[in-house]
Amino acid sequence: MIEKRKLVIVGAGFVGMSAAYSFVNQGGIEEIVLIDIDTEKTKGEAMDLSHGLPYAPQKIEIKAGDYDECKDANIVVITAGLNQKPGQSRLELTVANAKIVKEITENIMKSGFDGVIVVASNPVDIMSYVVSKVSGLPTNRVIGSGTVLDTARLRYLLGEYLQVASKNINAYILGEHGDSSLVPWEHCYVGCKKILDIMKDNNYPIEDLKEIHDKVWKSAYEIIEKKRATYYGIGMALTRIVKAILNDENSILTVSTYLENQYGQDGLYIGVPTIINRNGVKQLLNLDLEKGEQEKLNKSCSIIKDIIKNDIDPIITQK
Ligand code: 2OP
Repeated sequence: MIEKRKLVIVGAGFVGMSAAYSFVNQGGIEEIVLIDIDTEKTKGEAMDLSHGLPYAPQKIEIKAGDYDECKDANIVVITAGLNQKPGQSRLELTVANAKIVKEITENIMKSGFDGVIVVASNPVDIMSYVVSKVSGLPTNRVIGSGTVLDTARLRYLLGEYLQVASKNINAYILGEHGDSSLVPWEHCYVGCKKILDIMKDNNYPIEDLKEIHDKVWKSAYEIIEKKRATYYGIGMALTRIVKAILNDENSILTVSTYLENQYGQDGLYIGVPTIINRNGVKQLLNLDLEKGEQEKLNKSCSIIKDIIKNDIDPIITQK
């Protein structure tokens, strides 16, 4: 087991701090270091969070720090970068955030860091690729938050629709964390019964499933329209991923993972069901997708690959 449980969060904005708040409340970590260019704000965040510790499940050292702190960290979570403005897609953040994430990754690696990096900055599939290439870490040790949040949104909405606890909804969103994601409905279950069979047995209109998926991928737009940013959901999703790593869980999560000829795709990061443990990615689950779903995944991958080729590879190779 991992002996020292130290987590560094790069980016102490709403996403980073919601994740930190969630880690503190769920426990399982001994030290959290916050890094951000706004050092005064970061010190304030560390103080504020520390003041809640008497009511937290365990003692945690929380402090603001710099990149040297990554040296002996088990996990670094990157949340820094611009976020979407109302009406803006995640992909529109690509070039600006790639430059920021590249520099952050160089700084992390200069410290001698040798753990797992979890990326949340958007567009997350592309930023995971940037971190992977710039860090030079084995691909299993760079993970994006991928469609872990989208999957939570799907499970929540299906749970409400079917009136079953969302914990028992085994449904997954695959593909880009964004507008081209997909649901492999054939592989979605409530407990041990197929959702498609439940829909049929209850005469529920099958189109409702498409509506639920539409609601999922439109969620971020809707929330950003209403409150300018999303952060609690992703904070909880990041906690889930970090715990799966620290506890060596072998849990299945739809993180953004490097594909090497799985799903007929190669050379990119994208959200697929993946077994996660202390080494990061243990193994991908290769699902048999229906023709239409495979086509959707191919489309999702080709959007990402085009951006990698045209915008990202030149940034990565730039000195
Ligand atoms: C989300 O889906 C914006 O990617 C962020 O909430």
